[in-house]
Amino acid sequence: MLEGKRIVLGVSGGIAAYKAVEVCRRLVDAGAHVIPVLTEGSQHFIGRTTFDALGSEPAWTGLWDERHPIPHTHLGQTADLVLVAPATARVLGLYAGGISEDLLTNVLLATRAPVLVCPAMHTEMWEHPAVRDNLRLLRSRGVHVVEPESGRLAGGDVGTGRLADPAVIVATVQQLLAGEEHLDLTGVRLVVTAGGTREPIDPVRFIGNRSSGKQGHAIAAEAAARGAKVTLVTTSASPAAAEIDLVRVDTAAEMAHALETRAEHADVIVMAAAVADFRPVAVAPDKIKKSGGVPEITLEATPDILADLAAHRRTGQIIVGFAAETSDLRANAAEKLRRKGIDLIVANDVSAPGVGFEHDTNEVVILGADGSVQDVPFADKRVIARAILNVVSTLRSKP
Ligand code: C5P
Repeated sequence: MLEGKRIVLGVSGGIAAYKAVEVCRRLVDAGAHVIPVLTEGSQHFIGRTTFDALGSEPAWTGLWDERHPIPHTHLGQTADLVLVAPATARVLGLYAGGISEDLLTNVLLATRAPVLVCPAMHTEMWEHPAVRDNLRLLRSRGVHVVEPESGRLAGGDVGTGRLADPAVIVATVQQLLAGEEHLDLTGVRLVVTAGGTREPIDPVRFIGNRSSGKQGHAIAAEAAARGAKVTLVTTSASPAAAEIDLVRVDTAAEMAHALETRAEHADVIVMAAAVADFRPVAVAPDKIKKSGGVPEITLEATPDILADLAAHRRTGQIIVGFAAETSDLRANAAEKLRRKGIDLIVANDVSAPGVGFEHDTNEVVILGADGSVQDVPFADKRVIARAILNVVSTLRSKP
């Protein structure tokens, strides 16, 4: 299944480095050309001879190597995928910071291939805000992550931080490299909205919701990686890859305005944003004082952007909506799909643990106007994004 794929296997210096041997062997067994890149730290845990013997070529350990004058660009440019297992806090930090300190971090910056990192470290380090932030930043740039497991760690401690099972890592690699599907959206103009809108009450207060924008940003990143020309209209301050046209907005009205000119030319529109349904009729020009008593705020409906887009759609344009529900998921979503007149609806039960708003993970069901139903089990939002775009891609290929 991985026949002919060039995979750089970066191994950094954690006790889990011994498991990278198993990852290497399994990838080679699956037909991949595995190029081990070892950090200095990793070699305190496992000798290069093991990787020399089991990899598809002798391990690379430094920037100065007789085999090639510029090893990092050679390895980065020719890789189909760069896998880092285990990825230490140091490597994640350097990669997030764009710092090329050794061969592995140079390769990470010199590649345009998909990158999969598999962190492994002690629980205290894994939960440190710096590590969390670095991982969030890397995810927002399209880096794939296989999260560590919980279990026994070095020194007898027990907790989260153990490297994921080699079988899971290899399965994820296979999923990422499956077919050439990652370029199936080449040239497709895709507009995606993300995040919750904020409807001002006065200069300091607003009505908002819990949407983080992570699902919409994951869709934008995945679509761009698959070749689409992406416009992301978002209320979130999170970064996006340089090739994504980023439009930041705050209110439902601003989002509607941003879409006015952009939606018309889109081949696919994905409304992942949680747009407010109501907003204050009037915005107080000055901060409302507590001393004035409890204010009465009159609300009005916001324009239903999605329904408007569907009503004015171009022939062939595909429109995808979202439904965040807390009960009767399928029935409510099916009703919304019909009422809004769109092609697909992605529904999630936001009351379930780890699902929907604010989380890095989600679990959805995708309903099609053609009666199709697809359950996407609990997974990272990037994996959910991939499933949504697979359905979009299939829909586009239908006559
Ligand atoms: O009707 P409801 O708000 O539950 O529908 C959710 C879907 O409709 C989402 O795709 C959301 O982006 C979109 N929406 C919209 N304009 C609104 C409210 C929701 O486009 N005013």
